[in-house]
Amino acid sequence: MIKKKIEKDYNKKIQRLIKLNKYYYEYNNPIVDDKEYDALKKDILDLESKYSNLKSKNSPSLIVGFKPSKNFKKVSHRVPMLSLANAFDQDDLNNFEKKIMNYLNQKDNLEIEYSAEPKIDGISASLSYANGNFVTGLSRGDGKEGEDITENLKTISDIPKKISSKDFPNDIEIRGEIFIQNEDFKKLSSKFANPRNAASGSLRQKNPLETKKIPLKFIAYTFGYEKGLEISKQSEFLKKLKEWGFKTNPLNKTIKGIKNLIKNYEEIENKRGNLNFDIDGVVYKVNDFKLQKRLGNIANAPRWAVAHKFSANNGISKIENIEIQIGRTGALTPVAKIKPINIGGVVVSNATLHNEEEIRRKDIRVGDTVLIERAGDVIPHVISVDLKQRNDKSKKFVFPLKCPSCGSKTIKEYNSITKKEDAVRRCTSEGFACEKIAIEKIKHFVSKEAFNIDGFGKKIVENFWRLNLIRLPQDIFKLDYSVIENLDGWGKQSVSNLKYSINTKKTIPFEKFIFSLGIRHIGLENAKLISKNLLSIKNFLLLSKTKKFDDLINIDGIGETQVSSIKSFFSNITNLKVLTELSELINVKDAVLVKSNGLLSNKTFMITGKLQGISRAEAKSLIEENSGSIISNVSNRLDYLITGEKPTKRKIDAAKDLKVKILSQAEWIKMLNKTS
Ligand code: IVH
Repeated sequence: MIKKKIEKDYNKKIQRLIKLNKYYYEYNNPIVDDKEYDALKKDILDLESKYSNLKSKNSPSLIVGFKPSKNFKKVSHRVPMLSLANAFDQDDLNNFEKKIMNYLNQKDNLEIEYSAEPKIDGISASLSYANGNFVTGLSRGDGKEGEDITENLKTISDIPKKISSKDFPNDIEIRGEIFIQNEDFKKLSSKFANPRNAASGSLRQKNPLETKKIPLKFIAYTFGYEKGLEISKQSEFLKKLKEWGFKTNPLNKTIKGIKNLIKNYEEIENKRGNLNFDIDGVVYKVNDFKLQKRLGNIANAPRWAVAHKFSANNGISKIENIEIQIGRTGALTPVAKIKPINIGGVVVSNATLHNEEEIRRKDIRVGDTVLIERAGDVIPHVISVDLKQRNDKSKKFVFPLKCPSCGSKTIKEYNSITKKEDAVRRCTSEGFACEKIAIEKIKHFVSKEAFNIDGFGKKIVENFWRLNLIRLPQDIFKLDYSVIENLDGWGKQSVSNLKYSINTKKTIPFEKFIFSLGIRHIGLENAKLISKNLLSIKNFLLLSKTKKFDDLINIDGIGETQVSSIKSFFSNITNLKVLTELSELINVKDAVLVKSNGLLSNKTFMITGKLQGISRAEAKSLIEENSGSIISNVSNRLDYLITGEKPTKRKIDAAKDLKVKILSQAEWIKMLNKTS
């Protein structure tokens, strides 16, 4: 009985939705507001998830309005969509104003009023309204012709579908920016590099259902074609937009004088980290439409407007938390979790604080407003704290004296070379005994330069750790694949791929094996030196019995620091267990001594492009084992350029110019086979 009633109720809601859709999409004349429409949809979806018997081909989980044509139709803008000239500093702004004065033939007696509007970094769109109804929405395209993305734009709730205000022109194009809020972007950041790309990708989905999945916003700031707009200033227009039901930027202002523009720019830059949308500068527009008209355009940008851009490698944000990360060698690294901010097209939400001393020196605190720099591939870091914006109640950051992961004591080691205490604080636990260190050690073990297990990334290590599938490196070779097959996100194929990757890496050169153990101070180069000296894993394991660690000092390139680190590695029972178990599970190839008179002797090589079935590092070892050497530039010194998949054209051209012999991977392998 109750079931019947629920079904009836559900069907009634579906019928109502069909009706609302008709008015909304077909007649462009919605009869309810967005809130009511969304509430109805939510009711239906809630009922469906509660009662699995409820189904309808008209369910909002299946359709969103009407699908647009397969390819977006190209449509000409009635008024071109211009771009803006950029300004970066006060000189540029002075210049901008000077040009306006000259053009208007004014001396200094005219003080120009500007509309200063934060420049949202999104995708611009032009919305045509006829008699108050939203009829067509175009992307910017090349400025002259855009794509008809009407159906996708209709899914955005910030875009009014019908405007009944008396003074809303009968025929007008409203223009503005489509964007995604930083908080929403956070959830999607694995798919897109920045919010702008996410907005663009979502907007251009062939299926509006896909667009609907990403919460897009719209802020209006100008118009294109218009008939009957009786307004004389940009600031008035912005006010009207609000009255008509559009969202406008709450930080829009009218300002006179370059000095005040800069003051406002700095204020906005300071607020940037607190905004929930991405801005990349401030747009200044001459406020008076009559003046705008007189000034006109140069090329495809108006003479009456300019974009004052923020620097591309730094930005201001707020520290939400300070976390301590623990590295493979036990180092405690403080990391600031900051309010996500777009710096030069990349969303930054973490900044390294380096170490305890750096926090103390700069007095960095949770809640602080900070200047963040992101330069090249370097991890973003805090440049300075804005003390003026500090909360009275904020407290100094207390660096933990115990390891946050395992509770062990932490210490700063004494560096006998610099005769100073290390800046880095370390967990004193013995490697695998600390959970965070153990996880990092396993990540290192599977990493590219170590075991290089394809598809066994950092996330999988963390996941398998959480599920108690791995605790020590050797567990990777003892995985129960039938358990993994039943895990969320895994299937027969992916498990079989993983099994294959792991099995193919069961044979490993001795030097890589040493490196993969993650012994402190034993990087790839030192691992190579030790491998060449000890030659086999057998001799390496013997060290635990003979204790002849001090002999290692005779290896050219190995010093006291390395020897003492190896000694301490062997003094740990877990490490010995890892070593013996691994040696039973895998095949560690003995070191191959370099043939000093191999056929590659005195020959230099360079590799460009991706090689098949062999990593760069392995190819390099092969060349070196055969007494060849690798160089990093195409020059007269280069004998052979080995080309893999997608080689760099510039390198090939340079090699051809210098008459360097170009080898395919197969030709190079042939050459190696002759030598071995
Ligand atoms: S006005 C002729 N106002 O900046 C004026 N543009 O580089 C052109 N933008 O394509 C547009 N915020 O996507 C204007 N308040 C604002 C803006 C803004 C962001 C974008 C817009 C435009 C680009 C120009």
